[in-house]
Amino acid sequence: MTTTTSFAARATGVAARASELSKVYGQGETQVVALDRVSVDFGQGEFTAIMGPSGSGKSTLMHCVAGLDSFSSGSVRIGETELSTLKDKQLTKLRRDKIGFIFQAFNLLPTLTALENITLPMDIAGRKPDKQWLEQVISMVGLAGRLTHRPTELSGGQQQRVAVARALASQPEIIFGDEPTGNLDSRSGAEVLGFLRNSVRELGQTVVMVTHDPVAASYADRVIFLADGRIVDEMLQPTADGVLDRMKHFDAKGRTS
Ligand SMILES: Nc1ncnc2c1ncn2[C@@H]1O[C@H](COP(=O)(O)OP(=O)(O)OP(=O)(O)O)[C@@H](O)[C@H]1O
Ligand SMILES: [Mg+2]
Repeated sequence: MTTTTSFAARATGVAARASELSKVYGQGETQVVALDRVSVDFGQGEFTAIMGPSGSGKSTLMHCVAGLDSFSSGSVRIGETELSTLKDKQLTKLRRDKIGFIFQAFNLLPTLTALENITLPMDIAGRKPDKQWLEQVISMVGLAGRLTHRPTELSGGQQQRVAVARALASQPEIIFGDEPTGNLDSRSGAEVLGFLRNSVRELGQTVVMVTHDPVAASYADRVIFLADGRIVDEMLQPTADGVLDRMKHFDAKGRTS
């Protein structure tokens, strides 16, 4: 595929948009084109899964759109803000105020309690959490009885629920998850995915999640498939079987290595 296809959002507003986004690592013979003119919209209130083989550029796409990594060309906007127009400090502030993150490794601070971890980003930003909202989020992820526990006193699934609550607490414009269920058993993973699904359906949250797992992808409204730094397909209202099938199809066409 040599043309760049635009995968526009069907929802009302655009929470984030990449236009002709490219990311090249290294130079000369060691050069790697991790993203090759990717154009994609992430609609407000939409749950998008990003899939593709290892090395296809999923994390790079997420990191570039979330303002965690620089890009080589093209543009990215979060809401109405073009990331390239921001200075470092402004970018940090935008990340802190508008974006929530959930990573595969839960990234909790070991010395803080669950509640302190949940409110940490807002504490750093000097913002007071909306108490009612915080209670709603905490009860949704079922952590009410665990708030004074430290991460080492929590199971992996509980730790990731803390990370989900932390991402939701500040009501960010968009939440990015890089394999948020990658370290969880299937039951804990299903719980976390259920919380993300609920946050989209009931709270209007926007979620973008990288995953290897067709079952995880089936919680999303839409799946985009990456191969060799390009979006090669998308699927709406995905089912796990449908996603699995589509992945086999890409493998068979040899686009994936
Ligand atoms: N810091 C870096 N320096 C050089 N190359 C990199 C760097 N980070 C990623 N790459 C390369 O960019 C390409 C895309 O990597 P990326 O991490 O986005 O893949 P991915 O789809 O997230 O893979 P995985 O499923 O294994 O996490 C790969 O070929 C990778 O080797
Ligand atoms: Mg990755």
